[in-house]
Amino acid sequence: MIDNRYSRAFIKNDRSIIKRSNIINYLIDKYDYKNYLEIGIFDAFTFKDVKCELKHGVDPGAEGHISDMVTHQMTSDEFFASTDKIYDLIFIDGLHYYQQVAIDINNALQHTADNGYILLHDCNPCDELSQKVPRESIVWNGDVWKAWLLFRQANPNAECFVLDTDFGIGVIKFSKDLKPIMSLETKIDYNEFEENKTELLNLKSCQDKEELKGIL
Ligand SMILES: C[S@@+](CC[C@H](N)C(=O)[O-])C[C@H]1O[C@@H](n2cnc3c(N)ncnc32)[C@H](O)[C@@H]1O
Repeated sequence: MIDNRYSRAFIKNDRSIIKRSNIINYLIDKYDYKNYLEIGIFDAFTFKDVKCELKHGVDPGAEGHISDMVTHQMTSDEFFASTDKIYDLIFIDGLHYYQQVAIDINNALQHTADNGYILLHDCNPCDELSQKVPRESIVWNGDVWKAWLLFRQANPNAECFVLDTDFGIGVIKFSKDLKPIMSLETKIDYNEFEENKTELLNLKSCQDKEELKGIL
């Protein structure tokens, strides 16, 4: 496993002021959300800080760790197949293979409330190494970015963007008109993605609370 914890991009993202939990709690607070679902909670680093009336955390323990805050010890596929529950906010941060992320997005579209949001972690990988599948490095974002591009391809008019903080937080405002990802075919390679990522991700600066408030 290559140790890439000292790259400039990693340090910038790791030290970002606005973290995923800030964005999640900001939305819960703003819209008075009552139900939160997190796919992939690992050690509950984010989950433990989320302030919501009902929190469900799904994780099969694939990385050898099961937090005692996990409410559903199973894969996201097993979880979504087992419930009809609708959530105000769904945070997708499970298996970082784009094929699985695409499935997680499609399932989340079936389980999000009308005025809800879907968030995705790791949409803006640090560098080429950090997005390689299978994983080769300690810092690993996976190729979530490909699922994001496929979602935008299926939904060119969707209200969605990636906040440029904490490894890229994809934000999708739910609407009944959103279409599932039907094709997993990606033509863009990493170099092309890197050159055009501001446009491809619809990347928005989010360095502090003021910027966050201006966007969300
Ligand atoms: C990057 S960690 C999650 C980090 C956490 N969300 C946070 O903010 O700190 C990814 C987690 O996804 C879990 N995972 C792997 N495959 C999964 C699957 N098919 N369904 C749900 N979770 C999965 C792993 O066990 C791991 O704990």
